[in-house]
Amino acid sequence: MENLNYKEEIEKATSEVILENLRIKYLGRKGIINKLFEEIKTLPKEKRREKGQKINEIKKEIETLIDRKKKELKKIKKEEFFDSTLPGKSYPKGSLHPLTYVIEEIVNIFQKIGFIRVSYPEVEWEYFSFEALNMPKGHPARDDFETFFIEAKEHQKFGKMILSPHTSSGQNREMQRVKPPIRMINIAKTYRPNWDATHTPMFHQFEGLCIDKDINITHLKGTIDYFVKEFFGKERTIRLRPAHFQFTEPSFEIDVSCGICLGKGEVDGKKCRVCKSGWLELAGAGMVHPNVLKMGGIDPKVYTGWAFGFGPERCMMMREEMKIDDIRILYNGDIRFLEQF
Ligand code: DAH
Repeated sequence: MENLNYKEEIEKATSEVILENLRIKYLGRKGIINKLFEEIKTLPKEKRREKGQKINEIKKEIETLIDRKKKELKKIKKEEFFDSTLPGKSYPKGSLHPLTYVIEEIVNIFQKIGFIRVSYPEVEWEYFSFEALNMPKGHPARDDFETFFIEAKEHQKFGKMILSPHTSSGQNREMQRVKPPIRMINIAKTYRPNWDATHTPMFHQFEGLCIDKDINITHLKGTIDYFVKEFFGKERTIRLRPAHFQFTEPSFEIDVSCGICLGKGEVDGKKCRVCKSGWLELAGAGMVHPNVLKMGGIDPKVYTGWAFGFGPERCMMMREEMKIDDIRILYNGDIRFLEQF
């Protein structure tokens, strides 16, 4: 009995078939263990008990060893079947909206030169979007900012409740909040009731406002030139064209030189297919109207300032040279579009 080498045999088994054969060899009906039990009968009575116990112990040990080995082999088998060529499971991973990245970038550019990011109500009073911007009740210029009106009680001083149609409403709010010097960058959602290939009812604007003593147009030009070079590239330049806004005087449209023809308007003797003139329209701006300063509690004889308003959607599309036929794709939640960013 002592020279049974089941331990070694079980240990060396390399497959479940070999293991099963070993089980039959030792534990089977005609197996070694049963044979040993048979032999007990030939022993003197007083030795049978002790021998029987010993054989039982060995039997149990063999069972445990076989069991353990079986599990081990199963595990190896599973590992052997691991097919490393199978494509992995990929889990959907979310990301920020492309415009959120652009907004962060714009804010960083202005923060570097001391502008402070603020945000003001999207659900706003008429007063801040119009009266405070030199557009009194009934003024036709209000029509330019087609507006969503909210069914709510009118405010005695501030008028109707609206969805802010532009970030310029932040100008008066900022003047109320802090005394000059003011360096504001107000990025927010804005709303106008349009829904077509080039308009969404919700879009974004960012409004710059700078008020201090001796502020003039050169500061406005310098700041926008700095932004354009940071955001679009060093080779880009700007130009101001006369325009009209009620809240600035003088007022300008700002153009940026085209990234394809670099302001020349033509490439290899042919009209530039992107801009046709060398310039792309970018934003509105101007020197803050004295009435707007007054309504913000600032003395226009002491302080001057400038303001501008940009559309980050337009900035993004111009920079990335995105050929989007329909701007609504930015906001209709189509994952196939959003996943590309
Ligand atoms: N609020 C204007 C708009 O939505 C844009 C604008 C023009 C903002 C001139 C300004 C500005 O601050 O000075 O069309």
